[in-house]
Amino acid sequence: MPGALPEGEPVPSDGSLPAHARERAGRAGFGVYVHVPFCVTRCGYCDFNTYTPGEASREGYVDAVLNELKLAAGVVTGTVGSVFVGGGTPTLLAPDDLGRIVDAIDATWGLASDAEVTTEANPESVSRDALARLRKAGFTRISLGMQSTAPTVLAVLDRRHTPGRARAAALEARDAGFDHVNLDLIYGTPSETAEDFAGSLDAAIGAGVDHVSAYALIVEEGTRMAARMRHGELPYPSDDVAADRYLAADAALAAAGFAWYEVSNWATAPEARCRHNLLYWTGGDWWGLGPGAHSHVGGVRWWNVKHPTTYGKRLADGVSPGQGRELLTAADRYVEDVMLRVRLAEGLPLAALDQGGRAAAARARDDGLLDPAAYGRGRVVLTLRGRLLADAVVRDLLT
Ligand SMILES: C[S@@+](CC[C@H](N)C(=O)[O-])C[C@H]1O[C@@H](n2cnc3c(N)ncnc32)[C@H](O)[C@@H]1O
Ligand code: SF4
Repeated sequence: MPGALPEGEPVPSDGSLPAHARERAGRAGFGVYVHVPFCVTRCGYCDFNTYTPGEASREGYVDAVLNELKLAAGVVTGTVGSVFVGGGTPTLLAPDDLGRIVDAIDATWGLASDAEVTTEANPESVSRDALARLRKAGFTRISLGMQSTAPTVLAVLDRRHTPGRARAAALEARDAGFDHVNLDLIYGTPSETAEDFAGSLDAAIGAGVDHVSAYALIVEEGTRMAARMRHGELPYPSDDVAADRYLAADAALAAAGFAWYEVSNWATAPEARCRHNLLYWTGGDWWGLGPGAHSHVGGVRWWNVKHPTTYGKRLADGVSPGQGRELLTAADRYVEDVMLRVRLAEGLPLAALDQGGRAAAARARDDGLLDPAAYGRGRVVLTLRGRLLADAVVRDLLT
């Protein structure tokens, strides 16, 4: 089972927001996240809020989300620029059910005419027919969890798809008419060789997608993988190997015409960038629908109860599913803004940093971690070495 959520102050039972938050809502864009917390089995490395069939039922889930939407309609207004349905495995729901949720979001707030509407999907959970129906239901973008094409790596990760399925699904998604297709890769898994990762990159590039995300394997506390490592069944991932893999990813993707726009994300063109994720990274607002979903509106962050049954019951009783919330202070917002924007290729203005941050930025430039030309133009932009050490750069900028 997924771990506990943080404490926070209680969310009012009608989900209402303070007046100052309502006034600021949507100033930097408004999007909707929908969390679908179901998977057929749980991958050993994953600590996302997701439940296998014995742990929670999918029944009533869509109606509960539609109930949350009714409650949300009375709390904020705004046109929706992006929708992101994530999980879990959203594509365990029928395309028509996902379509009902998108339609209801449109009916509630209105989708912008050029809205980006993404769903995540596991490669084995979609067919040509399902992809065509998702496209018809209004999805413009799909993000497939490829992770790797090496059989041994897929086995260590407990993935259910065959090595060739993700590439095939990406090609099928293109055929189905999706505007944008992403493949997620994980690197640095124990047993993965440099050749394995090169093969995964080749397959992702060869699948004709316009976006690739590549994440270093994170060993999350409480997962089966963490236990296997503690018992010596699997070695821990190595930072040096992860750095080598990152360099390999950047080189292969750049050679194939992908440019990084966030430390872990590459796209073939500006319009192929994930607008929904950019909303998160640039201080935008979003309503998170679904069990355990997080929301951020006008400087208030809240999170829903995690279990689908508790979530559905709260809404059936006409009560907000919000479990707790935080009113972000100016200091909180500053930390968050620096943390997220530094990871973007466009970086952030030097002038946005406080005095200590500007001094740290000058040191980082001298250490080769920030691009000197961008620095000269008044911007904080990571170099390739800086991207490898992004967390350390952020720590220095904030101390
Ligand atoms: C939570 S999954 C949801 C999508 C879908 N269920 C899947 O697995 O493809 C979204 C992405 O998060 C990444 N991810 C999840 N857990 C991770 C971990 N422990 N370390 C690195 N990446 C992880 C994977 O790349 C995955 O594709
Ligand atoms: S399929 Fe995706 S969400 Fe489900 S357990 Fe695996 S990584 Fe997590």
